[in-house]
Amino acid sequence: MKLPAEVTIYEVGPRDGLQNEARNVPTADKIRFIDSLVASGIRSIEITSFVSPKWIPQLADAAEVARGVQRPPGVLMSALVPNRRGLDTALASGMKVVAVFLSASETHNKKNVNKTIAETLAAFDEVVPAARAANVQVRAYVSTVFGCPYEGDVDPQAAVDLVGKLRDMGVYQVSLGDTIGVANPAQTEDVIGRVLAKHPAEAIAVHFHDTQGTALANCLVSMQMGITTIDASAGGLGGCPYAPGASGNLATEDVVAMLHSMGVKTGIDLDKLTEASRTASTFVGHELPSKYLKAHLGKQARARRRAEKLGS
Ligand code: HMG
Ligand code: MG
Repeated sequence: MKLPAEVTIYEVGPRDGLQNEARNVPTADKIRFIDSLVASGIRSIEITSFVSPKWIPQLADAAEVARGVQRPPGVLMSALVPNRRGLDTALASGMKVVAVFLSASETHNKKNVNKTIAETLAAFDEVVPAARAANVQVRAYVSTVFGCPYEGDVDPQAAVDLVGKLRDMGVYQVSLGDTIGVANPAQTEDVIGRVLAKHPAEAIAVHFHDTQGTALANCLVSMQMGITTIDASAGGLGGCPYAPGASGNLATEDVVAMLHSMGVKTGIDLDKLTEASRTASTFVGHELPSKYLKAHLGKQARARRRAEKLGS
């Protein structure tokens, strides 16, 4: 099977995951979570969002999180910014990479940022050049590429056109989002094929949510087509609060376990990553959907019971 030798996992749990949690996670727990993910070998991580706290109260402590995390050299840390105000706060908090975001469908875009797609692109004109001038790299997300919770099917050409506009602005990588987890492998091949006909693979990442269990299959197809950056969320934390039905992201452990078992390198220590997710499940107060995590915790519990029996 044709696969890349190495894949970059772009961890989005602290942002995409925690933005959707009902429980207010204390800032210190967020910082510990991020530090433990970095300690597991993750080298690209989205730590928070500088968005309106009225829209996303879960991440209202963005500046404290950005100032509180350790920043070992060689680790790329990004934060979402929707507008110039978000960029300014992100810069003041020491961020060196920011990410802008918009949707391929008008209705989701309006629900998510209260603007049309054209207005959102105009707002990026105030963000991307200013970030580049400050020596800050800019990533971008295009949401609802594979389907919209309000409009249903989305024309794949919308994503192709937006990737072009975003790269022309100076964005270094565009992540194609399956916001509600409806993509299938055949559709993934179609969309990625259209995008890669016009853009190099290193400028594109994939961001699958796992609502219907197809995220790993979609990643496999994407990698076979040359994609080497995969967004994932520790434990499968996540969703989008402005996309009804959007469940957890593809779980980082699940994709890392699959990659390692096929000999694809990620640089991540799976045991340390699993431990970070286990801790996250305690502070969000519920089980996380990652299949690998569940299997690992089950194995640990069985080993504990065996040891207790032997000791008694
Ligand atoms: P708005 O209400 O239209 O704009 O929101 P506004 O300018 O009237 O601002 C409203 C209030 O927020 C004002 O405060 C502003 O000052 C303040 P007030 O005067 O009422 O006290 N404000 C801010 N505060 C802090 N930081 C800022 C900021 N900007 C304004 N940067 C806005 C427009 C874009 C701000 C809002 O819609 C928003 O923040 N939306 C964010 C939504 C969001 O974060 N969604 C989830 C992330 S996207 C996602 O998850 C998908 C992804 O994972 C990919 C995928 O899965 O497809 C990326
Ligand atoms: Mg997402």
